Amino acid sequence: MTSIAVVVGSTREGSFNRALGRLAVRALEAQGATVTDVDLSAFNLPLYSAALEANAFPPDAVRLKELFSAQQGLLFVSPEYNGSVSPLLKNAIDWASRPTGDESLVALTAYRGKASAVMSASISPFGGLRGLMHLRQILSTVQTLVIPEQVLVPGAHAAFDESGNLKDALPASLVDATAARLVAVAKAIG
Ligand SMILES: Cc1cc2nc3c(=O)[nH]c(=O)nc-3n(C[C@H](O)[C@H](O)[C@H](O)COP(=O)(O)O)c2cc1C
Repeated sequence: MTSIAVVVGSTREGSFNRALGRLAVRALEAQGATVTDVDLSAFNLPLYSAALEANAFPPDAVRLKELFSAQQGLLFVSPEYNGSVSPLLKNAIDWASRPTGDESLVALTAYRGKASAVMSASISPFGGLRGLMHLRQILSTVQTLVIPEQVLVPGAHAAFDESGNLKDALPASLVDATAARLVAVAKAIG
């Protein structure tokens, strides 16, 4: 079984990205993946600082890093904040990128050699495209292989029906296609 973690960059009640993340979990499971749905509100992650890292590395940062390390693939679903990823998600990615134990500075054990994919839901007509471009760059920097498929959900406030499904067939089909490719690539390289 291929292990994939789904990480949503919003903990807002009623979050559209959380709704998209739920669909991604379902699509990944339909592809036979073992999915860990990561709720970042369950992790106590202070804003990264070198002083904290040196003197009191947060236990939950270690826990998140270990969770990522145990996966073959990572799927990130992030809102766009001022043209970039949410600070909640960037901070989580940053903490999990830091060396622990006697690792080298660039060990990147949470990320190296894993497949990753990106999705975004936004109230804007552009669906969070600018944020995903940054997210792709970040995920490449930490040495994941980011698959080309992605999902943008524009007009997110009107995009989901009462059951939480996407009303529009295009993003709905892209959720399935992205999930299928992520599982295939994670399996191939993992
Ligand atoms: C600080 C801030 C900056 C934002 N910047 C953007 C933006 O650049 N582009 C965009 O499409 N939406 C932007 N938004 C709106 C978000 O897309 C919207 O709040 C969305 O619902 C957040 O995702 P969520 O529903 O998963 O919490 C911004 C929201 C906040 C709070």
